Amino acid sequence: MTGAREIRRTLAEISAAGSTVEYLAVDITDPAATAAALAPYKERVTGLVHGAGVLADQLIANKKASEIERVFAPKLTGLRTVAAALDADRLRHVVLFSSVAGFFGNRGQSDYAMANEVLNAWASSFKKNHPAARVTSLNWGAWDSGMVSPEIKAVFRERGIVLIPVETGARLFTEQFAAGRAADVVTVLGPTTPLSEPERSAATGPVTVERELGALTGHPIVTDHVIGDAPVLPAVAALGWAIGAVERAGGTPVRQVRDFAVHKGIVVDGTQPDRLSLTMTPAGDTVQVAIRSTDDKGAVRPHYGAVAVPGTVPAAATVAGLPALDGGRDAGELYTDGTLFHGPALRGVRRILAEDAARLVLRAELAELRPGDGAFGGSHFAPGTADLLLQAGLVWVKLFEDSASLPLGVASVDLHHPLPDGEPFLIVVEPAGGGDASTSVLTVTACAPDGTVLVRFDGVRVVSAPQLAAKFAGGVSG
Ligand SMILES: NC(=O)c1ccc[n+]([C@@H]2O[C@H](COP(=O)([O-])OP(=O)(O)OC[C@H]3O[C@@H](n4cnc5c(N)ncnc54)[C@H](OP(=O)(O)O)[C@@H]3O)[C@@H](O)[C@H]2O)c1
Repeated sequence: MTGAREIRRTLAEISAAGSTVEYLAVDITDPAATAAALAPYKERVTGLVHGAGVLADQLIANKKASEIERVFAPKLTGLRTVAAALDADRLRHVVLFSSVAGFFGNRGQSDYAMANEVLNAWASSFKKNHPAARVTSLNWGAWDSGMVSPEIKAVFRERGIVLIPVETGARLFTEQFAAGRAADVVTVLGPTTPLSEPERSAATGPVTVERELGALTGHPIVTDHVIGDAPVLPAVAALGWAIGAVERAGGTPVRQVRDFAVHKGIVVDGTQPDRLSLTMTPAGDTVQVAIRSTDDKGAVRPHYGAVAVPGTVPAAATVAGLPALDGGRDAGELYTDGTLFHGPALRGVRRILAEDAARLVLRAELAELRPGDGAFGGSHFAPGTADLLLQAGLVWVKLFEDSASLPLGVASVDLHHPLPDGEPFLIVVEPAGGGDASTSVLTVTACAPDGTVLVRFDGVRVVSAPQLAAKFAGGVSG
């Protein structure tokens, strides 16, 4: 067997070079066998090189649990077992063979990628607990050897992947012990390119995803969004979910949304649906999004609608003649006088800088909220700061129409740049034509202090509801 011959040759070469060498074969996924094999050496071992690995490439849908376990075992159980069989405090060198498949991901290797990424995390953690040890997780590119079979080589050749020749790999390995590399806890060796590009096939028919509301109901974005007695899901959370879902399904950032409409808001008072569905229907260059719930009897209720335009990038714009950030008056009372109903986590409108019906300018600042680990936002949109644009619309209606109000929809959302997280920015509210006795239509623009437009909501429709003033004032306090 070639393997056995190679082992014999290597052992002979090491001996010839004047070193003492012993070779033990043991299944490192077997803790008892590994501990027994290493017991006689436990007091002497000062270095660990973990190179065991197994591949079982398969697309996720076709993976079997037993194959995943086979891939995980030598890396995860194996490393734990060997480390436990040695005296960790004696180890001066720990070198782990990880892979760019973990660093970048690779088609068919989700399990192998995860296992290798765990090695990276393990290396960082071990280094933290044993700062004196040299610890390195080597994220190898593909070698022209070992587990890279002739079939895999052919695939890599087709993808234009440059393989690492054995001599080069060996040199890179030894170079890693140089003093200058001592701080490399996780490093990539070989070409720093992914082994495969992510494949995305644009959906041609409707795609529906679902989300349980349970995770949201205790989140400040809901608990600090109380109208009267009941928390209400902010419309921006629905808008953010639409943006994020289209981005994740299609792989293209969403920088423009049209026709966002609130059909029926979600009141989180115990009667809310357990889950919402979000259906994305491709239509030319756009994706129509419908967020709905289904009741016990199977009746479908529309809640929100929007049209995302992935790939459209809004042209750069600026707003001229903005007031200074520190002028005007404090805006705190807006949250207690019946203008705004938002609780502490959403209180981001800070100052009223210019108070003209033709142009209201507010100073805003809010530590971003990311409910659902970011599921309700996208690459250029996060719901906490975005909510401040709608709040600004309500402030305009209160100041110039003397009424409490709620947003109904936004004709066009242009996402130029993400809104700053915990940093000040300005919000400009200007009336646009097309309102009626009870509805105002506004243009709301968030910009940087230098006037660079960050986000623009055109055609924000806000409905006046004087009876809401008492409810707002009775909302979340504190
Ligand atoms: N080759 C590459 O291009 C490449 C790229 C990135 C990372 N890596 C990593 O580098 C390491 C070495 O890869 P390679 O190409 O040399 O692979 P290989 O030729 O397939 O060698 C893998 C080694 O792991 C050993 N092993 C597997 N399961 C074991 C277990 N339960 N107990 C003890 N030993 C076990 C195998 O021993 P037996 O032969 O006795 O089963 C074999 O010696 C792997 O960790 C791999 O993930 C390789």
